[in-house]
Amino acid sequence: MFASFRSIGAYVPEEIRTNQWFCDRMDTTDEWIVKRTGINERRIASLGQNTSDLGVEAAKIAIQRAGIDVNEIDLVLCATISPDYMCMPSTACLIADKLGLHEAMAFDISAACTGFVYALNIAKAFVESGMKKNVLIIGAEKLSSIVDYTDRTTCMLFGDGAGAAIISATEDRNKAIIDVRCSADGAQRDLLLTPGVTSGEKQFMQMKGNETFKVAVRTLTSDVIKILENNKMTNDDIDLFIPHQANYRIIKAVSDALEFKDEQKVLTVHKYGNTSSASIPMAINDCYESGRLKSGDTMLLDAFGGGLTWGSALLRFSPTK
Ligand code: UT7
Repeated sequence: MFASFRSIGAYVPEEIRTNQWFCDRMDTTDEWIVKRTGINERRIASLGQNTSDLGVEAAKIAIQRAGIDVNEIDLVLCATISPDYMCMPSTACLIADKLGLHEAMAFDISAACTGFVYALNIAKAFVESGMKKNVLIIGAEKLSSIVDYTDRTTCMLFGDGAGAAIISATEDRNKAIIDVRCSADGAQRDLLLTPGVTSGEKQFMQMKGNETFKVAVRTLTSDVIKILENNKMTNDDIDLFIPHQANYRIIKAVSDALEFKDEQKVLTVHKYGNTSSASIPMAINDCYESGRLKSGDTMLLDAFGGGLTWGSALLRFSPTK
């Protein structure tokens, strides 16, 4: 049995927060933010809108595009670092409930910005083992709830949003997800963290930006080299290179080092900022909705985040129709 990437969906909240919002409140400029990050604006969820609310909207679109009945889903995975509740219930349980699923296995994945690639890896393993047939994977974040809006070095980077995909069993080898690689190194945990409830500190995200930047470029680049080598593939085999959308300068440095052409690179950071686990599925959805992603196209996903965690994936887009 193989696992296929069958459909994609995404949802972004309505409120657009431009760089001007930050300029009005702290010592920064639009020019600095654009030059150092490539970000022009990001989406912000409303007060009563939680991560599960964003995730369920993305999930509904992915399910509808897969052409399956919601009850055919037998596993729900939600990658998030901004869950509705601290530890329980999981955001995956809430999304499953909102979809009317009351028996499917559901759990969250904590792998920061690499969360969607981790979810893809887990979904692939469950499907290939024959344990599950249709897995709903979601990357959903309300990062505005864990961002410190007094810290000008991090707050302008992040936004809210969600993306979701359906991973289904297939006997057609040509539709199979080719490979997913996931790694972690807790020794580098201090680069990016959110203090725990027992720490006495506020639960706001903290980041050593400049150090993280350098590790991100190195790791994202070497991971692509490894996954291509392992699968005896080259840049020319890739239709779309979809890196985690953290900073335009990181994406440019990695794509230049790997010699990807402009038509292969996917960029959404300018309009959504960094949405952590949601950034890759939101970017895939952007390509789908603009007609850039077509049936049979080969995608290369490349993610990096707190933990540290990192991962990459090689897969073909295999929609039902
Ligand atoms: O998603 C997980 C992974 N996340 C990432 O990969 C993010 C990685 N880091 C970054 O994207 C970048 O490091 C930042 C965008 C956060 C910062 O850019 P940078 O080029 O690394 O700047 P820096 O931290 O070295 O700061 C340069 C200067 C400093 O001033 P001095 O010390 O040179 O006088 C900062 O105080 O820029 C100053 N600065 C700002 N100035 C205006 C920092 N934040 C701001 C700001 N506006 N918002």
